[in-house]
Amino acid sequence: MCGIFAYAGTENAVPFLIDGLRSVEYRGYDSAGIAVIGGDGKIQIARRGDHKASLENLAAAVGKGHLPGVASGMAGLVGIGHTRWATHGEVNQKNAHPHSSSDGLVAIAHNGIIENFLELKDELVDSGIEFKSDTDSEVFAHLVGRGVANGSSLRESVVGAARRIKGNAAVVALSALEPDTVVGLRVGNAGGIVIGTSAKTDASVMASDTIALLPFTNEVIYLEPGEIVEIERGVIRLFDLEGTPIDREPVRVNQNFEAAKKGKYPDFMSKEIAEQPDAIQGALRGRADFAAGTLDLPEITLTRDQINAIDRVVLTGMGTSLHAGMFGASVIESLTRIPAVAENSSELRYRNPVLGPNTLVVAVTQSGETADTLAAMEQARQAGSPQVVVLEMEGSQATRIADFTLPVRAGQEIGVASTKTMIASMTTLLELAVFLAQSRGAIDSEQVKKIVEMLAELPSLVASVLDIDGKITSLAERLSGFSDLLYLGRGAQLPIALEGALKMKELAYIHAEGYAAGEMKHGVNALLGPEMATVVCAPKNDLYEKMLSNISEVKARGSEVAAIATEGDDTVGRLADHVIHVPDCPGLLQPFLTVVPLQMLAYRTALVLGRDPDKPRNLAKTVTVE
Ligand code: G6P
Repeated sequence: MCGIFAYAGTENAVPFLIDGLRSVEYRGYDSAGIAVIGGDGKIQIARRGDHKASLENLAAAVGKGHLPGVASGMAGLVGIGHTRWATHGEVNQKNAHPHSSSDGLVAIAHNGIIENFLELKDELVDSGIEFKSDTDSEVFAHLVGRGVANGSSLRESVVGAARRIKGNAAVVALSALEPDTVVGLRVGNAGGIVIGTSAKTDASVMASDTIALLPFTNEVIYLEPGEIVEIERGVIRLFDLEGTPIDREPVRVNQNFEAAKKGKYPDFMSKEIAEQPDAIQGALRGRADFAAGTLDLPEITLTRDQINAIDRVVLTGMGTSLHAGMFGASVIESLTRIPAVAENSSELRYRNPVLGPNTLVVAVTQSGETADTLAAMEQARQAGSPQVVVLEMEGSQATRIADFTLPVRAGQEIGVASTKTMIASMTTLLELAVFLAQSRGAIDSEQVKKIVEMLAELPSLVASVLDIDGKITSLAERLSGFSDLLYLGRGAQLPIALEGALKMKELAYIHAEGYAAGEMKHGVNALLGPEMATVVCAPKNDLYEKMLSNISEVKARGSEVAAIATEGDDTVGRLADHVIHVPDCPGLLQPFLTVVPLQMLAYRTALVLGRDPDKPRNLAKTVTVE
């Protein structure tokens, strides 16, 4: 939520700021802005609040480093930038970051929420300060400005401001009195700050995301909560909030900048859907040995006794990651015979759950930064529960809370709505289930071998589902005319139905409900009729007959039915109006195959309705605030 980028180097900062913001734009795209310290020593700010056109309009406006209204040739060697996801104050230019202090000596960009901002604003207004925006962030600019005006350094002033606020913040700040320096601060878990220096140009940079640093370096330093950093050209200085210097070696990251480009695809969403066979392979790499028929998770170093002591597994996450977690709970419980549940992190964190040393907590999060997921993980840590995180973004905050990290290795995902990281998380959770079950003796090596053989086929099975695009397009055209859709599933298909409905909401803005098919008679049937179409997950498995009855019930009430069914199954086709077939495969793998057409359906429906699949309205990829 909100992207930050900062530059201190020897070249004009403006093009670097714009490019850096392009890399973090997926975190929020309501507004965009930059601030630089110009050649005259003054801070110059350019901002746009044009919704998803903000960054490109800003880029066009600042051209080659000439800020609007500023004399030609004006550019700075040091600057900060921000892409906004609005929390306080509507989307417009005055609410776009950076915000400045009244005397113009300080500019800041902020990611997070200042919970006590009204109280602080009243205090600042009483002292004669006039606010120019409706944001909570502006109070931070004035607090820092007050410190600088009183003779404190920029770093001391940022620490002073941090001590006044309640909530989470990642902030970058400039002061015209220290024209070579950018200060970065992190308090709480609101988004990360990653820092690096280019060996080639000596430019020091910081950003919300590693991806924005990769054009400069792949040796990065992660700022921890409660830390502050000063960057200058070629220099990075870390401190705690008491001012004690911190010595931290950079870590090498393996992310690939090219991977975050669209390549031949029209958008990230279609690219990431198409990359799912590779994402599964990434999750299997180094874990499944197809020749030997074995599977190991070297990342999990729990002893056999510790694994045997687990008497409950709690999976947690938000959005698509929660749906992957629900799938994980069903496979963990069925293979290990340990009771397993999946729970929304925003509920888990506030309800005083029973967690303890024998509860294994498994957090699922693409970004490793989702505020609610991190809070639930903190709670589990305090309860002494052993904890595994299944994630894409290695080095993120979640990896520092968990005892064990299982990277899903899908490759950087840019589309706001998750696709390939879900399928890679599901693969990883299935591996975790097998690993735990084998360690506890719930399954033997022959059963493991059978599952590993199945997993070897999974990438090509998923690849063959991608070929049905034509059929999906005509179904999308049909469904795009409905304003209400119902998605039904049972068993392992329930999280898939929920995910199909979520994708349709996120991408096409069509109201879509995901439901357990068995619940229909308890309320949902009242909604059925020609106005609402139904999408049913009905592959051939032991719940198939039940799903056939559900389809008949829906049809009998006049609702149009689209079904996802197994290749060669003609019965569903006789009952439903539209059928999308997926290859026949063992029940354990079916959710991987049925989720893909539902992602494609949402994507195609979004295109039919003229929506931007990469930038759905009001959403952000990384939700670093509650
Ligand atoms: C946002 C994204 C979703 C994602 C969810 C959880 O809502 O738009 O695609 O599933 O956050 O994010 P996480 O990074 O924790 O998986």
